[in-house]
Amino acid sequence: MATTYDEWVESQKLPVHKGHLIEDMRTTELGWWDERKCNAAFVQLVGDEDIAEIRVIEIPPGKSIAPWKFGLDEIYYVLEGRGLATIWGLPGMERKTCEWQERSLFVAPRQSFRQLSNARGDKPARLMSYNYLPLAMQAVRDPNFFFNNPYETAPSAGKESEDFYSEAKAVWTESEEGRPSGRGNYYTWYGNFFPDMGAWSKLDPLRNRGAGGHRVYVEVPNSSLSAHMSVFPAQTYKKAHRHGPGRFLVIPAGEGYSVLWEEGKKKIVVPWHEASAFVPPMHWYHQHFNVGSTPARYLALHPPRIFTGGYSTMTDPARQIEYPDEDPWIRQTFEKELGKRDLTSIMPEEAYKDRNYEWPYGEPEGD
Ligand SMILES: [Fe+2]
Repeated sequence: MATTYDEWVESQKLPVHKGHLIEDMRTTELGWWDERKCNAAFVQLVGDEDIAEIRVIEIPPGKSIAPWKFGLDEIYYVLEGRGLATIWGLPGMERKTCEWQERSLFVAPRQSFRQLSNARGDKPARLMSYNYLPLAMQAVRDPNFFFNNPYETAPSAGKESEDFYSEAKAVWTESEEGRPSGRGNYYTWYGNFFPDMGAWSKLDPLRNRGAGGHRVYVEVPNSSLSAHMSVFPAQTYKKAHRHGPGRFLVIPAGEGYSVLWEEGKKKIVVPWHEASAFVPPMHWYHQHFNVGSTPARYLALHPPRIFTGGYSTMTDPARQIEYPDEDPWIRQTFEKELGKRDLTSIMPEEAYKDRNYEWPYGEPEGD
């Protein structure tokens, strides 16, 4: 049955891309969005339905898109180009502008007006946005509530608004007791603007997922939006795991593939490179493979906390597959894919024998 959100999407008359993978968000087909006077498309991948909205928009060379107000916090990720985002209309907060470039991540807060401008005169800029509109429209079945609402949001804490679009701040975070990830303590980065996720180098080891991988965990102040980015070395792969739905993954750097599968079912391979995007469906295993010669990065935009798997995942004894227990096809395929590129695996043999194998962690990647 069509939801209010589905009906609203249909009324916009834009392309809607479905499936498991968008091979390149920079070139995926867009259509004319009359309401905003720009080209755009919706991306609704399997496993994200009813939770998150992903839109791709294109700003013509040297142009600005007419400003609009929107009732939900929204994360933007820049796929291509550079430009400006200007935010205003929040009581107690001055007009703020950030200058974005490829792989920037920035936030437009709920009930703000926002305007996006392309700083280049010679080519279009492309961004994707992520918000919880499908979920919110299940609670409030009225698009006008989100797009045409005169409500002025209460001023956020003064400090937060002063810091809007300034440098993100790190807060040392103790891992929650009983968290399944075993990720250890880490920094949470609070911010509204991250200039380049392809170059971000402040990373913590993510010890339980193998491959010597690192991670940055991002929270948006005064918002339920959060994200993380994983970085893992060339010629390695991570352990398969599963959790709740609604994490949208986009690739800032690297070349590889991921395997997605529901327990006992056929495995789906999604090849990726910069600007590819995919979603691990709810409780499907997923596993990430770097078959390039540089570190790979994937940025995961998170659904609200109830969906992140913290609840169901904690009681799932099979939430992660250790290397010694994996289907031999996994390793064989990885080595075959590397071979096609004249590369070889650097996965240590011990990792396949010892379930408690500990990866050596040196300095974070990129430092
Ligand atoms: Fe995951």
